[in-house]
Amino acid sequence: MKRIRSVVRGCGSYLPPRLVTNKDLMEFVETSDEWIVQRTGIEQRHIAADDETTSILGIKAAEAALADAGLQASEIDLIVCATSTPDYTFPSTATMIQNGLGIHHGAAFDLQAVCTGFVYGVATADKFLTSGSHKRALVIGAETFSRILDWEDRTTCVLFGDGAGAIVLEAQEGEGTPADRGVLTSHLRSDGRYRDKLYVDGGPGSTKTTGVLKMEGREVFRFAVGMVTDVVRDAFESTQTTAEQLDWFVPHQANKRIITASAEKLGIAPEKVVITVNKHGNTSAASIPLALDTAVKDGRIKRGDLVMIEAIGGGFTWGSALIRW
Ligand code: ACO
Repeated sequence: MKRIRSVVRGCGSYLPPRLVTNKDLMEFVETSDEWIVQRTGIEQRHIAADDETTSILGIKAAEAALADAGLQASEIDLIVCATSTPDYTFPSTATMIQNGLGIHHGAAFDLQAVCTGFVYGVATADKFLTSGSHKRALVIGAETFSRILDWEDRTTCVLFGDGAGAIVLEAQEGEGTPADRGVLTSHLRSDGRYRDKLYVDGGPGSTKTTGVLKMEGREVFRFAVGMVTDVVRDAFESTQTTAEQLDWFVPHQANKRIITASAEKLGIAPEKVVITVNKHGNTSAASIPLALDTAVKDGRIKRGDLVMIEAIGGGFTWGSALIRW
């Protein structure tokens, strides 16, 4: 039976020019390139300049995605920006991006699901587009995590980076089968009991400050590998597809060991796994669209490929989406 699908029209990304290597970090904290690479796979990360805010990174990624899609900004009627590092408490970063793109119609809002933000964003935009209420959405993941790090805490500051990525989704009619292009399914979960494992210790309603990121690394590692597999299996099950049929697995880029262990548990071949954490660090909600754009631009992800995105983040929140590119 025919149905509306949210089809990817284009993607884009932006990384701030300042590159910080593991060796550079040794000037701030007692660490080593060897420790960071061995434990996380991270070799370098990009850090935003003081005047490069999350909305500025988001605008650049959105412009690249629009150019890739061959669309004008005026053709977009929905902007969903996933971020935990908004420019301001309000207005939303999404409306700032909307204005920066010169769009003055439609709707724009931020979505907060930490590292799972982009997956939540794709799922949310998909509901808007498939309901028929909107026609074309920009889904953006944009972060300046460098602003919420304790640069004296070596257990956290070495892990993160800044950046932004975006995709354009367009409502198009499909046949209603897994052969359709577009978002085939999405599965979102959350469980607030795990708040203390990964959180920021400030906010407007509690401390009236921004706060810094706190994490129980080992616990997060354990949960990350254990939890995310259920939503990926749900995605396979609901579309009657298998790990063998998957062309690309594009997980949240937190840590190479988490990615490798998750893929292995799911029976996904290592050559199908897109890894960019070595070059970008963990860019939270921006990590998946950055990885997607990298793999599209280097020729790995092609039109018609079956692509699984998945993430876990603070909350905990976790989710997956299966997309035929
Ligand atoms: N450089 C050198 N030594 C360090 C550093 C560092 N940057 N950080 C910690 N150490 C030391 C510790 O102090 C400890 O020393 P000790 O044994 O003398 O006490 C030792 O290294 C081992 O520390 P652990 O925390 O036990 O190291 P572990 O092997 O667990 O690795 C890590 C830590 C990399 C954080 C790991 O737990 C991990 O990857 N966790 C997942 C967390 C993650 O990726 N979070 C991202 C955000 S969540 C998300 O996006 C889903």
